[in-house]
Amino acid sequence: MHLLHRLTTFLLWRIALVSGTLEQDPLAFSVVSGGNDNHFLRDNVTAAQLLLTSSNNRDVTSRRLIFALPAGNSGALTYFIPSNASSDAPALDVQLINGTFRSTIHEFDNAGVQADFSFNTNATLGVTIVGSVRAMRDYVEGGGIMHEILNYTLASYNNTSVRLHRRWINSTEEDPSVFKGADLYLDIPSGSPASLHVTPANEAASSPVISIIVPSNASGVARVTFVTNETSLVGLDTNSLFLPEVNNGTQGLRTALNGLTGGKIAAGDQINIQNGQSQLGGQPWYDYKMIDTGAPNILYNFGRAEPFSREPIISNLIGLRPGQPVGNWRDSNQGLGYGFFPFDVNTALVPASLRAIESLLNAGILRELQLPMRAAEVADIARVWEDRALSFFQVSVKQSIADAYLRDFVKAANLSEALLNNTDAETSKNVEFYALSLMQDGPPVEVMHSDMSFSLVYGNNLSQDFLQRVIDALQPYPRGLLTTVGMVVANPAYDSNRTNIEVLNRAAYHGTVIWSFQQGLMANGLARQLSFCAIDNATAVDTNTPPSTSPTWCKNASFVQSLRDAQTRLWQSIDGARNEINTEVWSYSFDNIMNKFAVADLASIFPDGTEADAIQLWSFGFLGLIDPSSNKTIVS
Ligand SMILES: *[C@@H]1O[C@H](CO)[C@@H](O)[C@H](O)[C@H]1NC(C)=O
Ligand SMILES: *[C@@H]1O[C@H](CO)[C@@H](O)[C@H](O)[C@H]1NC(C)=O
Ligand SMILES: *[C@@H]1O[C@H](CO)[C@@H](O)[C@H](O)[C@H]1NC(C)=O
Ligand SMILES: *[C@@H]1O[C@H](CO)[C@@H](O)[C@H](O)[C@H]1NC(C)=O
Ligand SMILES: *[C@@H]1O[C@H](CO)[C@@H](O)[C@H](O)[C@H]1NC(C)=O
Ligand SMILES: *[C@@H]1O[C@H](CO)[C@@H](O)[C@H](O)[C@H]1NC(C)=O
Ligand SMILES: *[C@@H]1O[C@H](CO)[C@@H](O)[C@H](O)[C@H]1NC(C)=O
Ligand SMILES: *[C@@H]1O[C@H](CO)[C@@H](O)[C@H](O)[C@H]1NC(C)=O
Ligand SMILES: *[C@@H]1O[C@H](CO)[C@@H](O)[C@H](O)[C@H]1NC(C)=O
Ligand SMILES: *[C@@H]1O[C@H](CO)[C@@H](O)[C@H](O)[C@H]1NC(C)=O
Ligand SMILES: *[C@@H]1O[C@H](CO)[C@@H](O)[C@H](O)[C@H]1NC(C)=O
Ligand SMILES: *[C@@H]1O[C@H](CO)[C@@H](O)[C@H](O)[C@H]1NC(C)=O
Repeated sequence: MHLLHRLTTFLLWRIALVSGTLEQDPLAFSVVSGGNDNHFLRDNVTAAQLLLTSSNNRDVTSRRLIFALPAGNSGALTYFIPSNASSDAPALDVQLINGTFRSTIHEFDNAGVQADFSFNTNATLGVTIVGSVRAMRDYVEGGGIMHEILNYTLASYNNTSVRLHRRWINSTEEDPSVFKGADLYLDIPSGSPASLHVTPANEAASSPVISIIVPSNASGVARVTFVTNETSLVGLDTNSLFLPEVNNGTQGLRTALNGLTGGKIAAGDQINIQNGQSQLGGQPWYDYKMIDTGAPNILYNFGRAEPFSREPIISNLIGLRPGQPVGNWRDSNQGLGYGFFPFDVNTALVPASLRAIESLLNAGILRELQLPMRAAEVADIARVWEDRALSFFQVSVKQSIADAYLRDFVKAANLSEALLNNTDAETSKNVEFYALSLMQDGPPVEVMHSDMSFSLVYGNNLSQDFLQRVIDALQPYPRGLLTTVGMVVANPAYDSNRTNIEVLNRAAYHGTVIWSFQQGLMANGLARQLSFCAIDNATAVDTNTPPSTSPTWCKNASFVQSLRDAQTRLWQSIDGARNEINTEVWSYSFDNIMNKFAVADLASIFPDGTEADAIQLWSFGFLGLIDPSSNKTIVS
């Protein structure tokens, strides 16, 4: 849900549409993660991901198959359920036949992918969703609920072929340009001894019953095909990733801004229905609930920032929108510990946005827009935010209380006290950190967190105090955030509200779990801050204007060394789960006998919760990061 993720996705979209079809070698690779085999394909027809429950994953008896395409965010989901549930029946095994996953073109501009699967025994289709990936996700995460208007229809069937069709809502035959949809086909290829058995919906069953029948003691092959006539995305070449070089900077910027405001994004019809906006049909609905975005909207951001600069009190900070449970990357009330004013928005993103406006005004790029504010005025407002917002988030816990909390926490979280020994922290001082958020009436949510990474990436005048809290947070978990399999994004160990230990546990989407992009931001931010002392030169292209002179803390050699040590610890932690870094999020398990952490799949700890995709766009920031222990990127 975050800016980077959405913006990058959006830019890729724009450019793909602008550039049209490109000559590109097909790309195909596979990743095994979280009990699933993931296969990726991109060629000159389409791009797609195929996910199938791994053959050796015996935690579940059904086999789940997903096709997901960037084309209109369309796809299909089905569960193959063993037809014979008796205990002596063989376990259902469904395998992708090597080399059969490929793109395909059908009539009416439909394009998509197909693959052949072997079945060792009879299987019946369970829940099957054809159409939007969003509907699939909402079904899986939303307790199995889906609006019936999103159901497929059984378009045709016989004993070798079935077509399940879903016509987009508000798609009309009168207007062929919007008459679109998606299809899932099951076919028995010639030579396969399998067949299909289909019973249409009737009084007994509200949806059709579809089975794949294979003879005893043999295996059969079925071909599954998904196509849609949403615009397909094809591969990009490197040059098309960048705006064309232009002599006239104003024109170049205008082209980019027009792209941002005029872009048409495929707007899932089911999202509008869920939001009570069904009258919009497939038209986009802009709800502005994410308060950590708004990049191109200068006047809007400036207006939102002004009240606090006039009167720096908590109620003038920027909180969640009325009635909205989400507003920043932590995605939910739970993710913010039920707070209202997020740390990242108020201490890092608002100042960063103001500083960016100041830079644009100073560069004269926005002159022709005739904005009502001057650069110096914006700088003054930015300074108030930088100087005052942070203080509301300060948390200080007396050492004796902190120790008691930690001992209580290791019990509550099924960890071991041995973990508390592993520290260089001085034992006599208070534990100080910044709150994850503030409650609406002001008290801090006393959860240590990783969002200081945003300040490191954008800030150019952070204090030594701030950086000391970063160093303190980059201690071994549960004193700090670093496990041996990555940096957790929240640590409720010191919270006087002990309920948050459960709310932000290792099964919670934004709890004591590891997000790859947060590690990347933290690593990038530390390198950037150290570069201000001119000892590193890691940051070739900066996110914000670097300071013209080195910060004063650079002269404190032992402090700089502590910062470097923290950087080393962070990279050791990242390296402990190096194979995971392209994924979105993972959790840990803890072995109380060996006192060791291991990577754990979030979906298997909490099957009803959110599961991570094996490949997540915003985790790919690691492509641009150098591990200081080797001076190399850790992505191969
Ligand atoms: C895709 O490329 C293949 C050759 O690799 C070519 O045969 C085919 O016509 C191309 N299809 C499209 C839609 O460009
Ligand atoms: C399919 O390919 C995988 C990896 O390339 C290989 O391990 C496996 O043995 C192959 N399976 C078959 C049935 O050929
Ligand atoms: C089954 O349906 C498919 C697709 O409509 C068709 O090609 C095939 O001939 C049909 N088979 C039989 C036996 O009717
Ligand atoms: C999309 O495909 C459907 C068949 O699935 C077809 O009826 C419709 O005309 C197609 N729309 C366009 C715009 O090609
Ligand atoms: C719609 O789909 C859901 C999920 O597969 C299913 O439970 C329900 O019975 C379907 N309803 C109809 C009318 O087909
Ligand atoms: C699948 O079902 C058919 C028809 O009910 C049955 O004849 C066949 O033996 C079953 N196959 C297996 C592998 O059990
Ligand atoms: C740059 O483009 C803008 C907008 O098209 C135009 O008004 C301006 O005169 C151009 N400047 C130069 C130096 O060409
Ligand atoms: C789109 O379809 C929904 C559901 O049938 C309907 O409520 C809505 O009015 C339609 N919107 C348009 C723009 O036709
Ligand atoms: C304590 O935490 C719980 C769970 O986050 C929250 O619902 C509750 O409001 C908090 N209580 C106080 C007094 O902050
Ligand atoms: C922690 O360290 C102390 C002192 O070194 C030692 O006595 C104690 O056994 C350690 N605790 C655990 C749980 O390892
Ligand atoms: C850092 O990089 C810049 C630009 O490449 C270069 O001019 C400068 O000399 C480098 N500084 C150090 C300390 O290496
Ligand atoms: C990495 O580069 C830095 C600066 O160029 C150098 O001081 C350091 O020794 C290098 N480290 C390794 C492991 O090569």
